[in-house]
Amino acid sequence: MSSPVILAIDQGTTSSRAVVYDAKTFDVLGTAQQEIEQHYPHDGWVEHEPEDIWYSVARTVREALARSGRDAKSVAAIGITNQRETAVAWDRATGRPVHRAIVWQDRRTTDFCRERAADQPMLTAKTGLVLDPYFSGTKLRWLLDRAPLLKVVADRGELAFGTVDSFLIWRLTGGTVHATDATNASRTLLFNIHTMQWDDELLRYFGVPRAALPDVKPSVAEYGITKGLDFLPDGVPIRGVAGDQQAALFGQGCFTPGEAKCTYGTGAFYLLHTGETAVQSKHKLLTTVAAMTDARPKYALEGAVFIAGAAVQWLRDGLHLFKSSAEVEQLAKESNPAEPVLFVPGFVGLGAPHWVPEARGVIFGLTRATTAADLGRAALEGVAFQVADLIDAAEKGTGEGGLLRVDGGMARNDWFLQFQADALGRPVARAAQSESTALGAAFLAAIGAGHADESSLGALVSAATRFEPKLPAPDRAKKLREWRRAVRAVIGFYS
Ligand code: G3P
Repeated sequence: MSSPVILAIDQGTTSSRAVVYDAKTFDVLGTAQQEIEQHYPHDGWVEHEPEDIWYSVARTVREALARSGRDAKSVAAIGITNQRETAVAWDRATGRPVHRAIVWQDRRTTDFCRERAADQPMLTAKTGLVLDPYFSGTKLRWLLDRAPLLKVVADRGELAFGTVDSFLIWRLTGGTVHATDATNASRTLLFNIHTMQWDDELLRYFGVPRAALPDVKPSVAEYGITKGLDFLPDGVPIRGVAGDQQAALFGQGCFTPGEAKCTYGTGAFYLLHTGETAVQSKHKLLTTVAAMTDARPKYALEGAVFIAGAAVQWLRDGLHLFKSSAEVEQLAKESNPAEPVLFVPGFVGLGAPHWVPEARGVIFGLTRATTAADLGRAALEGVAFQVADLIDAAEKGTGEGGLLRVDGGMARNDWFLQFQADALGRPVARAAQSESTALGAAFLAAIGAGHADESSLGALVSAATRFEPKLPAPDRAKKLREWRRAVRAVIGFYS
């Protein structure tokens, strides 16, 4: 019998990934990744086929296990982490989805949110969120409004709603468990983050029947066992679940108040751990649930930039400026710093701290001398400036400030991280394992399976590279002033 391993399933916006870890050392033994197709049926709409999600998970788990050289029987526990807010609805009897998943980036509920802006204080007080199309509650409401028959079957308890984690738990357990974790629930606008329950007033507000919603558990809990799969044996326990950003916070070893990370995936997400206190931001950051290893609530302040790696993808796939995303680093180095190009990549609206769902991407300062290299640099700078704005807003609320831990795809780009440190005027530290999200899910599952505890895991996390700010303070201030003028212009144009 080979030594135990932990299987992490990381179902992200653009791809699914499976990682097999040694249950003691957390060395990566095998990994696999598969992109999933994005559907854009109308302007501002983004959808996924839930079956694509499921098959990509099944395939990557199979491949990662094969590459690890370990028998599937040696999986001691599964940890799941996922793109958050994306809403899935399926038939409990057949397990079949009744609609495509409505992705977190989808803006179809912009009018609904605009018309109800006056309800913002009530919603924020209960959920820590803002009323924005980003969150699942507005998407489920849209679905029920569009298909009244769904409402009837949902009321009868025949329909299951959930975020991607609960859809995967349902499928992995052969349709026997309908559950989610508190970090995912906290992104729905239906969950009261102070009582840690689905909230009746919110359910009425969004017209979502309680019978359709999953049970909510801490991130470390018993989520059932695998059943009837052809890529894992029956009986493998699912012991850890968290939304991807909360998983990355955990995987970066940020367990205590004041510790912060930024993950650069499709979007960029900054989370500052606030311990057992639900800090309410005065600057439109979100209060969210952080990974809970037991029933005690934990919280974080969060800032979301909707487009980060997706801006680089657009340069690659939309403009065909290069073939592989990694090439943007060389391009940025070749750019002429005197070309005054500013790129606000608000393709799906602006998130925190502005919350303008109607906004779109804008490029300022194009000249006849502007090159692909300048566009590449401007895209990277636009992401870094947005993160600097978020952190500025977060710290006005808490007085925190210090080292920023970073991870995710764009964090492999040294040029970008140097610019991020310059824009922030403080050091950033890249994690030794750039996949902090999957690692966080594995940590949670390992705790749940009794293989580890927080203190042993904290000692495993290390920063590999540190980037010190080099830009003189007056130059930094000037750049930020210009950037903020550009953002104000975008907001003025679209609102
Ligand atoms: O809130 C959305 C977030 O969970 C998506 O993360 O890594 O897919 O960009 P990612």
